[in-house]
Amino acid sequence: MLRRLHPEQPESFAFTPENLEWAKLQISKYPEGRQASAIIPLLWRAQEQEGWLTRPAIEHVADMLGMPYMRALEVATFYFMFQLQPVGSVAHVQICGTTSCMLCGSEELIEVCREKIAPQPHQLSADGRFSWEEVECLGACTNAPMAQIGKDYYEDLTADRLARILDELAAGRVPTPGPQNGRYAAEPAGGPTTLTGRAGPRDPHNATVALALEKGDTVKRIDGSGEPLRAPWLEARKRVRKERAARSEAAAAEGAAVAGGAAEEGRRPANLLEKPAGAPDDLKKIRGVGPKLEKMLNEMGIWHFRQIAEWGPEEMAWLDRHLPAFKGRASRDNWVDQAKVLAAGGATEFSRRVEKGEVYD
Ligand code: FES
Repeated sequence: MLRRLHPEQPESFAFTPENLEWAKLQISKYPEGRQASAIIPLLWRAQEQEGWLTRPAIEHVADMLGMPYMRALEVATFYFMFQLQPVGSVAHVQICGTTSCMLCGSEELIEVCREKIAPQPHQLSADGRFSWEEVECLGACTNAPMAQIGKDYYEDLTADRLARILDELAAGRVPTPGPQNGRYAAEPAGGPTTLTGRAGPRDPHNATVALALEKGDTVKRIDGSGEPLRAPWLEARKRVRKERAARSEAAAAEGAAVAGGAAEEGRRPANLLEKPAGAPDDLKKIRGVGPKLEKMLNEMGIWHFRQIAEWGPEEMAWLDRHLPAFKGRASRDNWVDQAKVLAAGGATEFSRRVEKGEVYD
């Protein structure tokens, strides 16, 4: 199906102040440079506000996200959930025409739409209050045939029931969504045969219907007013930053204590070198030494396997003090034994993997 922008477009678009605040919060979910990831929620909110997605709205959202207009247009024209033409001011009715719904009577529902709204999909009714379209499976196949009206699903429909729903909407009422034949949810038509203890007098609707009734925004335009703005991710981000700062402060304090108060712990290796004696060894062949650690060891004057091979427990303790972030690693990975093998020209299983390029690029 070709999806094109409507030939008649309004002059401009702006979010309501409340929707603008909401949109800014959505953008704040994404890291710097990744704001474009907010495109779908923002386009969706623009559609919720206006009923359909206008060209100025798409461009406005693209500007907010620092995206080329073409990228935003690609998204808006790709997803069928975005309405690219005006819809009924009261409701836009989406009839599922896929297999289950078709077998269960969706064509009769479409006939109702043709008679009561307009002969063609996406055509406004004479009074401009309704529009309709046929859509692909909406995932409520066990309750076929069904329609999405505004935000909610009307399931187990018949032509008569849909006609009455449209009448109620025209009269300014919003019928209860969900199954329209008395079913609670998607249990067998004759009633549940297992898990039979579910519904009781305090539980007249399934959770989806109950939430739809509580929100009451089935066919409402959303201007953001009265909507509590919640941004738990900002709180979480602050907490993570605080925890990170505390961790690095603790590591710095530990490093200072090591450098100062515990000078007597361990012994400085006597074989440290200001620069390598010849070509330096690839210390990354020692399990536990990555590129970062190799650089740190070089800065400390350690360039060759033979240097490490000569160390004893005192030198290892000294190393631990000077590498607080890697404390215990040299003993745990037994660097001295590995270095002895490598210094003698041998190889370890790990060094062979390093040589084959299986460990580092
Ligand atoms: S076939 Fe209609 S909802 Fe799946």
